[in-house]
Amino acid sequence: MQTKVLCQRDIKRILSVVGRDVIMDRLISELHRGFARLGRGETDEPPPRTGFARGGDVPGVIEFMPYRASGIGVTMKTVSYSPQNFERFNLPTIVGTVSRLDDDSGSMVALADAGTITAMRTGAVAAVATRLLARPGSTTLALIGAGAQAVTQAHALSRVLPLERILISDIKAEHAESFAGRVAFLKLPVEVTDAAAAMATADVLCTVTSVPVGGGPVVSAGPRLAHLHVNGIGADEQGKTELPRALLDDAFICVDHPGQARAEGEFQQLPDRELGPSLADLCAAPEIAAPHLESVSVFDSTGSAFADHIALDVLLGFADELGLGRKMAIESTPEDVLDPYSL
Ligand SMILES: NC(=O)c1ccc[n+]([C@@H]2O[C@H](COP(=O)([O-])OP(=O)(O)OC[C@H]3O[C@@H](n4cnc5c(N)ncnc54)[C@H](O)[C@@H]3O)[C@@H](O)[C@H]2O)c1
Repeated sequence: MQTKVLCQRDIKRILSVVGRDVIMDRLISELHRGFARLGRGETDEPPPRTGFARGGDVPGVIEFMPYRASGIGVTMKTVSYSPQNFERFNLPTIVGTVSRLDDDSGSMVALADAGTITAMRTGAVAAVATRLLARPGSTTLALIGAGAQAVTQAHALSRVLPLERILISDIKAEHAESFAGRVAFLKLPVEVTDAAAAMATADVLCTVTSVPVGGGPVVSAGPRLAHLHVNGIGADEQGKTELPRALLDDAFICVDHPGQARAEGEFQQLPDRELGPSLADLCAAPEIAAPHLESVSVFDSTGSAFADHIALDVLLGFADELGLGRKMAIESTPEDVLDPYSL
């Protein structure tokens, strides 16, 4: 019984040999196809995640995100959100691992680092939503929050929109200033600005902040363009929201995970509003999205284990093509399976 282990070295190799654009494009197309299947009821719904919220001096969350594709396998992401990681430990805010269990035996067939693939899938899911809801031909992308997810939001959206410039805003000036260097591969002009100017000029706005619980909103409701599309990425914990209520009240809102939206997403602010169609519904029936291209829309993303399942498939597919990943006997196979000491 062997587990294929993909560590940082393997993911670095996939990025350098396959290229980040090819991987991102594959993620966007596979996620679109997958969410469409989910919307047509052809695959299992992901349950809401569970986890532990950490208060005190080092606040954060450690979460468990499961998805089962019946007859195929179970994907389990164990992921932590620790916004003080950068200052305290020089680690990313999001760290974790993702594993795949065989559906019949329960054996772990794969285990991979989840940091880079989570950031890429989060950008790719936003790109799927943006392609459905943003005005076609949108050229100005604004980002509030200049951390790790902002890099992959910009990358993913550059694959589905004819972007001409990126506006970036962060409460930490040094993060905003260093952003241009981190997205230099996009070859787009990057301008540091404030949240109000970003909101006023954006065709598409992504909020990707580590705003603390109770600290939102991170932007005001206006002025804004009439066709603004917003990807709300950072509202993913009880009490943590990024968008102003007045913007949500005016917007068509689509969620990535209906089971999580009310507990963790921007929908926490809208207890009396019906959820409306999900991303899966829009992918299955894009005509539902079409009337909203010229008016304000919000993609309320809390993060979906279904997306992690698809992203892990993509990652494993590239690893197989390149012969990457080390097979390890992590789980024991006793010589006599009725005797756990017979290793
Ligand atoms: N929806 C999803 O699927 C998903 C997936 C991964 C991460 N996330 C969320 O995305 C957010 C960003 O994650 P990350 O990995 O980029 O974190 P990060 O720590 O790398 O970056 C966060 C940035 O936000 C900035 N910031 C904090 N408060 C702000 C405010 N009020 N206004 C402007 N900037 C502010 C910080 O200075 C930092 O630069 C987190 O809230 C995380 O939980 C969501």
